[in-house]
Amino acid sequence: MVPVIRTHGLGKVYSPGTQAEVVALRDVDISIAPGDFVAIMGPSGSGKSTLMNLVGCLDTPTAGSYLCDGIDVSTLDPEELAVLRRDKIGFVFQGFNLLPRMSALENVAMPLGYARVPPGERTTLAREALAAVGLAERESHRPSELSGGQQQRVAIARALINRPPILLADEPTGALDTRTGEEILALFERLRDEGHTVVIITHDPDVAAHADRIFAMRDGEVHEEPGIGNRESGIGQAELS
Ligand SMILES: Nc1ncnc2c1ncn2[C@@H]1O[C@H](COP(=O)(O)OP(=O)(O)OP(=O)(O)O)[C@@H](O)[C@H]1O
Ligand SMILES: [Mg+2]
Repeated sequence: MVPVIRTHGLGKVYSPGTQAEVVALRDVDISIAPGDFVAIMGPSGSGKSTLMNLVGCLDTPTAGSYLCDGIDVSTLDPEELAVLRRDKIGFVFQGFNLLPRMSALENVAMPLGYARVPPGERTTLAREALAAVGLAERESHRPSELSGGQQQRVAIARALINRPPILLADEPTGALDTRTGEEILALFERLRDEGHTVVIITHDPDVAAHADRIFAMRDGEVHEEPGIGNRESGIGQAELS
């Protein structure tokens, strides 16, 4: 199976050659298969968001390569990259990034404007996406009229509206209480079971324990924690083999 996310020697240096130079990522080799649920952990400043931004094609590396679903993204021009991002990647930003003057429904429908979907269809699809995260009753609420967990779910519905195979989320439960966080995690697990690849950044070991694989970051380097994720560690796995 072709990995949906594959990096070779990926590196990122901010402000290279200046006094402000920061080596944020060094020599990262990761391979993530379709349907994997991965958690990225590590201390503040270890490079988690830097890696996520590269995988989400929001930034470009200074070394190495990244293949998204088998496509070397460095070979794409800006327009092709925008199309790849639109079709393959849903990004849930830390702090939601919802537009305050728009309703939940309008926020969710927004990416469809770029995908040239006719307006009538946008509303139908956005309603479906809101219903999928349990917010059908809240479509006309603005972000300020929603709880933190509900805002997070709107952000997830927006990231999923184009049905991207890859869902990336930077601290999706960071601002939530334990129970609301569990609801978001249950949603991610369902998406994983439907075949989406889910990658989340988290500081919380209890959150990471829901993932199938855990990548630990330190000083820009990534190491996979052997067999502590959900699926790999269970006795069930040993019994199968
Ligand atoms: N745009 C930038 N310009 C310069 N340096 C940056 C930039 N973005 C991040 N850095 C530096 O790169 C390093 C990695 O940052 P990154 O944001 O990836 O950390 P993180 O692991 O996501 O941390 P946190 O848990 O605090 O969000 C840090 O030392 C940071 O100061
Ligand atoms: Mg970060």
